[in-house]
This record gives sequence, structure tokens and C-alpha cells, in this order.
Amino acid sequence: MSIYKKPIVLTVLITVVILIGTVVMMVFPLFSSETQPKMASLKPYTALQLAGRDVYIENGCYYCHSQMIRPLKAEVMRYGEYSKAGEFAYDQPFLWGSKRKGPDLARIGGKYSDKWHYKHMTDPRKLFQGSNMPAYGWLAEQTINAKDMENSMKALGFPYTKDDIEALKDKSKLDAVIAYLQCLGTSVDKKPKQPLIAAGDKNPLLADAKAIEEGKKVYEMNCAACHGIDAKGDVGPDLTDNEWLYVPGPIQDDTLFSIIADGTKKDQEFEHRKAKGGMPSWGEFFGKKKIWSVVSYIRSLESK
Ligand code: HEC
Ligand code: HEC
Repeated sequence: MSIYKKPIVLTVLITVVILIGTVVMMVFPLFSSETQPKMASLKPYTALQLAGRDVYIENGCYYCHSQMIRPLKAEVMRYGEYSKAGEFAYDQPFLWGSKRKGPDLARIGGKYSDKWHYKHMTDPRKLFQGSNMPAYGWLAEQTINAKDMENSMKALGFPYTKDDIEALKDKSKLDAVIAYLQCLGTSVDKKPKQPLIAAGDKNPLLADAKAIEEGKKVYEMNCAACHGIDAKGDVGPDLTDNEWLYVPGPIQDDTLFSIIADGTKKDQEFEHRKAKGGMPSWGEFFGKKKIWSVVSYIRSLESK
């Protein structure tokens, strides 16, 4: 009873009890590896990627782009597999961001080719009319300070070799930020996709006027950026000639479908043609009907 009459002793005892609680609940977990998960497939940033991360921070890319996909259906459908705690082990500080004036970039790695990124960074409006992303072409004229990077890697505890640092000397800030973008999200497994059609399927919407109209809209929104508004080729090949993946001669409907649905990888084979890679996949976003409509539209151009 009497302890309640001794305010000083009571205060000291309460403080001690709270401190014990704090140590148990906060300090121990801080040093336990269980609270700092790291994905097995996660690789430390290379010197160039780390330099690119600095460029990303310097230019405030995170004012417009988040790097955090929430486990909500709409987000996963739009951006891909939701973010895992173990992905961020090498991020000091995190670049999750809180605003999305532009799309989330957590899964951008490998979505486009380097060439696409150079084009987009130099002039976003060329690829997306009405994009409010600033142009960053001037980054190509700025070089990376290799000495700074060496210090920064030491401070963050990244493994590096003299050669890594040496290789930075002829790289621009644009090279670095693109190398960084290309590694984002690559440690996370992409779920194997169910094929949307069976091998040998024919286009049910071939020469269907309504489907061609729909396909034209889909094309202008999504494909014109790389294949040109007239489909005569730009970053991607001409779609109006009778040459598919660099070999003249016709191609089956189902092959065309799978190029569009699943994209292409370097050296992947389609009807004995070798892809060079760089065509993104659209199956997740479009579904069967939209893809067949685009195929109808492409076929309609071919016959003109
Ligand atoms: C003022 C806001 C803003 C800033 C700052 C900004 N972006 Fe963007 N970004 C956008 C918008 C809007 C889009 C969507 C339209 C487009 O692709 O141009 C976009 C698109 C992108 C894309 C393509 C995403 C996709 O999935 O298609 C990449 C990559 C990208 N930005 C990288 C960057 C990098 C790197 C920086 C910093 C050097 C940056 N952005 C700064 C607004 C911004
Ligand atoms: C980011 C740029 C990009 C976008 C966007 C893009 N493509 Fe492609 N596409 C390519 C590249 C690059 C190739 C060459 C692929 C290869 O060699 O592996 C290609 C190849 C193709 C091919 C094979 C054509 C041929 O002549 O060899 C077709 C068909 C195609 N794309 C259709 C589409 C459609 C339809 C869309 C829109 C839904 C689209 N592409 C959007 C870059 C793109």
C-alpha cells in the first residue's frame, strides 16, 4: 500500500517497468533478422544501378512515382505482384513515395527495352501524348562522379570492385538511371501465366468491321508509340509488310496472338523465326477479345 504514498519511488519504478517493455518490444526486434527479411533472389545494386538510384532521388522522381504496390486487386492487375518486405533490404532510404502522378515503378524492370527508356526519358510526349512527365534528356550530358559513388558504396556497405568503379567513368546519369529502372522488381517471380488460347486457334474476329475499329483504337493507345501511328515501324518493326520477326512470309494467327499477349524475349523462337526481344506483353491488360481485335486490325493493314 505504502508505495502509492511515495511518488518519487513510484515514478522511478514505473519508468523502469516501461523501459523493460521498450527493450523487449523494440530494441531486440531491431537486431533480429526476422524483422529484416531479405528475398533470396535479391541482388545488391551494382555500382551503376546505385548511381542511378541517386539520380532518381536527386531529380525527385518519387514526387510523381511510387515504388509500392499494395495487395489490392486493382493494383495487382495494373502493376503486377504486390510488394514484399524482403524486396527492400538494400534500399536506404526506401523510395516508396506517397504520390502517383505517374504510374508505380516497382515492377518496371524488364517491362520495356533500354531503347524505349532512352526515348521516353528524352521526350515522354513522343510516346504518350499529354504526358506531364518532364523531359530528362539533359541527364545524358552529365557524368557520374566515380569518387562520390565509391564513398557512397563504402558507406552503404555495398560490395564493389575497382573495375565497377572504373566502368562508371564513361557512363552518363541517364545510363545510370535507366540501369536502375531496369532492375526494379526483377527479384520477384512473375506468376506463370495461363495461355489465353490454344495452339492453332484461328482469329474468330478476322475481317469483322467492328473488331477492326476497336483494334484500331487499342493500337493507337498502346502500340503506336513503338510501331508508329501508321504501323510502318519505329522502335518496333513495320506491321504492314509481310515480314514477321525479320523473315518474309505469312505468320499464323495464334503466333501473332502470342507475340502480343506474351511479348518477346531475345532468341525466343516463333515459327522458326528468332526474336530480338523488346516487345512488351499485353495479355494481362487486354484479355482475349481485345487482342484478337488488334490482330484483325493488323491483318487489315497488311492487305492494304
Ligand atoms: C511531374 C511528374 C513526374 C516526374 C517528376 C517524373 N515522372 Fe515519370 N511519369 C510521369 C507520368 C504522368 C507518366 C505516365 C506517362 C508517360 O509514360 O510519360 C510517367 C511515366 C514514367 C515511366 C513509364 C512507366 C510505365 O509503366 O509505362 C517511367 C519509367 C518513368 N516515368 C520514370 C521516371 C523517372 C526515372 C523520373 C525521374 C528522373 C520520372 N519518371 C519523373 C510523371 C512524372
Ligand atoms: C515498347 C515498345 C513496343 C510497344 C509499346 C509495342 N511493341 Fe510490338 N514490338 C516491339 C519490338 C521491339 C518488336 C520486335 C520484337 C522482337 O524482335 O523480339 C515488336 C514486335 C511486334 C510484332 C511482330 C511484328 C514483326 O513484324 O516482326 C507484332 C505483331 C507486334 N509487335 C504488335 C504489337 C501490338 C499489337 C502492340 C500494342 C498492343 C505492340 N506491338 C506494342 C516493341 C513494341
